[in-house]
Amino acid sequence: MGHNLLKGKRGIITGALDENSIAWKVAQKCHEEGATFTLTNAPIAMRMGAINKLAEETGSKIIPADATSVEDLTKLYTESMNVLGGKIDFVLHSIGMSVNIRKNIPYTELNYEYFNKGIDVSAMSFHKMLAVAHKMDALNDHASVVALSYIGAQRTYPFYTDMADIKAMLESIARTFGYHYGKQKKVRVNTVSQSPTKTSAGGGIKGFSEFFDFAEMQSPLGNASAEDCASFCIALFSDLTRMVTMQNLYHDGGYSFTGVSQEQLAAMGK
Ligand SMILES: NC(=O)c1ccc[n+]([C@@H]2O[C@H](COP(=O)([O-])OP(=O)(O)OC[C@H]3O[C@@H](n4cnc5c(N)ncnc54)[C@H](O)[C@@H]3O)[C@@H](O)[C@H]2O)c1
Repeated sequence: MGHNLLKGKRGIITGALDENSIAWKVAQKCHEEGATFTLTNAPIAMRMGAINKLAEETGSKIIPADATSVEDLTKLYTESMNVLGGKIDFVLHSIGMSVNIRKNIPYTELNYEYFNKGIDVSAMSFHKMLAVAHKMDALNDHASVVALSYIGAQRTYPFYTDMADIKAMLESIARTFGYHYGKQKKVRVNTVSQSPTKTSAGGGIKGFSEFFDFAEMQSPLGNASAEDCASFCIALFSDLTRMVTMQNLYHDGGYSFTGVSQEQLAAMGK
């Protein structure tokens, strides 16, 4: 049951691959809250076809775009504005991929070709999405742009290898672009630092399941689910947060500020 928090707003949602994707839940909640939006993903991801179900459910058009291609992103904004009937009010960047992680390559031995690919897909694509929108003047005043991040950008997690550096870059782009876009057009740019979440991207990390349980033990509120993350994104897309920008906002049940929990200490004693 929605509250019409996004009534009349137009958006673009990247990264819905299957129903576990965080972006999938965001799209469902945006629909519930009265927004209209387009869905996009890399052409290769379309082959799996699951996104068609989401498009049908939310009455959205799918516009394939490789987020590393400025040409594809230009088409994405042009078509989105045509389909939705005006400039865009919110954008979700929910894109992450590391070949080094997929291939279990340790941080001290990173393959630089894969590292570059990871940067391009997972961080530079955010700059490109913002830069193309800026150049086309595709976003309304006070529009809200959100990208998803992880605390590996601030603290070391051995399994997160090059994504740690890539997420640090993503968060820096939010601050720096947020400054310029805020000054010129009052557009807001933030990152949400989400708990470990059971999705394709998350599940691809070695030892993810053990770490998911570890984080659950550490967080006073428990791990934040994809649905909770979607609700937080709705708050950030809505007018209720119109003065929030250039922030990295932890959405993690209190994990980031907990040194150690009683449950973790008890587990060590076993
Ligand atoms: N799952 C977690 O534990 C977790 C925790 C914190 C942050 N995040 C972040 O959340 C975001 C979404 O990931 P998710 O967990 O929902 O997994 P997911 O695998 O469902 O989503 C990742 C998406 O990125 C898309 N993508 C990959 N390359 C692309 C390209 N070139 N162009 C366009 N799209 C491309 C994929 O097709 C997929 O839809 C990522 O940025 C991820 O790093 C995930």
